[in-house]
Amino acid sequence: MDKIEQAKEKFGALIEEQLKRVEKMKADKDFIDYSTLPVIKIGIVGGDGIGPSITSQAQRILEFLLKDEVEKGRVEFKVINGLTIENRIAALKAIPDDVLDEIKQCHVILKGPTTTPSASDKVNIESANVAMRKELDLFANVRPVRIPDEGIDWTFYRENTEGSYTLGSKGFNIDDDLSFDFTVATTDGTERIIRAAFEYAKNNGKKRVTCVTKANIIKTTDGKFLNTFKEIAKEYPDIETDDWYIDIMTAKLIDPKRRKGFQVVVLPNLYGDIITDEAAEFQGGVGTAGSANIGKRYAMFEAIHGSAPRMVDEGRDKYADPCSIIRAASMLLSHIGYAEKSKKLDKALDICTQTEKKVVITGKSDGATSAELADYIMETIKENERI
Ligand code: IPM
Ligand code: MG
Repeated sequence: MDKIEQAKEKFGALIEEQLKRVEKMKADKDFIDYSTLPVIKIGIVGGDGIGPSITSQAQRILEFLLKDEVEKGRVEFKVINGLTIENRIAALKAIPDDVLDEIKQCHVILKGPTTTPSASDKVNIESANVAMRKELDLFANVRPVRIPDEGIDWTFYRENTEGSYTLGSKGFNIDDDLSFDFTVATTDGTERIIRAAFEYAKNNGKKRVTCVTKANIIKTTDGKFLNTFKEIAKEYPDIETDDWYIDIMTAKLIDPKRRKGFQVVVLPNLYGDIITDEAAEFQGGVGTAGSANIGKRYAMFEAIHGSAPRMVDEGRDKYADPCSIIRAASMLLSHIGYAEKSKKLDKALDICTQTEKKVVITGKSDGATSAELADYIMETIKENERI
C-alpha cells in the first residue's frame, strides 16, 4: 500500500477512537458523592523504585488519621502490588489487566512513582501515569504551590487527558524522513477542566483565574481552549480573568512582583506538565509538591517526582523523602470529605519540614529514614491536638 494511504488508515483509526471517547465523556455527567457511599475504598499502589517505601509511610499516616473510620468500616484500605516496570514489560501493557481490575474496585488511589520506559528501552509502553489518567478519565490534574512568605498561593488546573498526551505513544513515521505526532482537544474535555478551575476558584474565595495557551501558534486546539475559557468566564462575573501565552507565563513566574497576582491557572496538558515543575521549584522542588488527578468516578493522588531507581540500587530507599506522597495523601483526605484531617496533616508537615525540622531527610544514611519522618509527623499531629 502506498505510504499516504497507509497513514490515512492509521489516522482514521485514531479519529474513530477519539470520537468514541467524546461519546463517553458526553455520557458521564455526574461526579461521585463520597458522602453517600457505605464504604470508601482507598487503593495503595506503591509503584517502582522508592515508591513502595515512601507510599507505605503515607499509608501509615492515613491509617493513623482515619483510625476511627477504619474501625467503623467507613473506610477500607487495599494494597495493590504489581504496578512495576518488570510486570509492565512482561505484559507489554502500561497497566497489567489484573492491576487495573483491582484499581477499578477502589474509589480513590494513592500512587507512588512509576518508571516510564523511554524510547531507548525499545518497548513502546505508555507511561503508567498517563495510562491511569486515561483509563480512569482523571481529567483534572490539580497541583498547588504555596509559599506564604513570598505571597505565593497558586493552584494549577492542568488538563490531564488531552493535548499532546492523548496520542503521545500513537504518532507514526510516514517514512524515514517524516514523523508525525498529534495533539487533541475536544469541546467536552476543554469545558470540564475550565469549569473545574472556575468552580474551585468560586468555592475557595479565589479572585482570579488565568488561562495559559499558545493559541497564537497552535491555533485549532489551543484556540478552542482559549475561546472556551472566554465563554465560560462569562458564567463567573465575580471572578477576574486573564490569559497568557506559555512562553511569557514561564518568564512571569520568575518575576517576584507579577507572580503574586496569579491564583488559579488553567492550561492544556503539556504546558501544565512543564510549568508545574517550574512552580514547584520555588517551593523547594518537585519532591515537596503533591498532585491530585480528579475524574468524575475515580481520583488518584500521587507524588510528582520520579522513582529514583538509583536509590534502590544503592540500598537507600528507606532514606527517601516521603513528603510529596504525604502531601498527596493530604489532598486525598480533603477530596473524600476529611478536610479537617487534611489541614492537620498539612500543618504538621509544614512544622516538621519547614520550621522545627527535628528530623531531617538527606536521602542518605546520615539522614533520617522515611519511617522516622512519618513518626515525627504523627507525633506532631498528636502534639498539636494536645495544645
Ligand atoms: C507528571 C510527570 C508525568 C507527565 C510523566 C512521569 C509521564 O512528569 O506527572 O508531571 O508527564 O505527566
Ligand atoms: Mg511532569
